[in-house]
Amino acid sequence: MMLTIESRRELQAWSDGERAAGRCVALVPTMGALHAGHLSLVETARLRADRVVVSIFVNPTQFNDSKDFDAYPRPMEVDLAACRSAGVDVVWAPRAEELYPAGAASWVDVEGLSEPLCGGNRPGHFRGVTTVVTKLFLAARPHVAVFGEKDFQQLTVIRRMAEDLGFGIEILGAPTLRESDGLALWSRNVHLGAKAREQAIRIFESLALAESLLARGERSTATILEAVHKKLGEATLASIDYAELRDPASLELIAEAVEGPTLLAIALQFEPDRSVGRDAAEGLRGERVRLIDNRVLIP
Ligand code: PAJ
Repeated sequence: MMLTIESRRELQAWSDGERAAGRCVALVPTMGALHAGHLSLVETARLRADRVVVSIFVNPTQFNDSKDFDAYPRPMEVDLAACRSAGVDVVWAPRAEELYPAGAASWVDVEGLSEPLCGGNRPGHFRGVTTVVTKLFLAARPHVAVFGEKDFQQLTVIRRMAEDLGFGIEILGAPTLRESDGLALWSRNVHLGAKAREQAIRIFESLALAESLLARGERSTATILEAVHKKLGEATLASIDYAELRDPASLELIAEAVEGPTLLAIALQFEPDRSVGRDAAEGLRGERVRLIDNRVLIP
């Protein structure tokens, strides 16, 4: 029987009970609109823990644009059914007022790691993420929390935070689930029209291209990035937000040569295609879609 819990106090009491009974509790934080990628995190959690809590909360403080926040899908009934079939023990869907009471003024900020890549053009985004994840951790009191490697920087920032603040929570990363053609699963993929959807595969292809260059002995960051940019450039409906080689732990740029495990992180932004008019079956259905993906390359 799956429980749905709204209040933080109720969740804390439940979690304390499970802990007292010697059971291991895992938390899978989400913003809902669940897809198979989210459910794979639940599967990872189930293998690792006796009880799995999924939180569903569209966190206002991590959105730069309130329009994006308003437009974020909230199919609660469908999500609850998905959690039930995935064997989730507790769904916690807090109200915004409980996580952010009137006058809320406290933030958790991870310096440095939050700044490059997605932090660059989304100021305050990671501060919103780390603040809400702290609140989720304090409410669910899990032993383990599972995050997707798809959001590699998010995972890195949260690992740093958990260590710095001594949460005593093991942070597990789970591999990215993909469509059969390699596109990472994401709830916003449905906003891509046929042509943009086809072009979106260039992201996965450039990850594979970089890997094959490395396998052939190429080590120059300039050469690898040039090839990646060329491949991404074939996505004519999109602009490259970033395509960078960074150290997977420190997220610092790799200057010249790839010598150890190296993160290739990509963000590609599809703009609504004005030239095909409002219907935009070719390009985008009206909204911007920013796709991110990554791979850790091992030379
Ligand atoms: P959301 O975008 O709902 O993602 C929830 C979790 O699912 C994240 O850990 C994300 O990395 C993971 N995920 C997304 N797509 C995936 C895929 N294709 N394969 C595997 N895992 C995938 O990330 C957030 O929410 C929020 O920032 C949150 C951490 C909940 C804080 O608000």
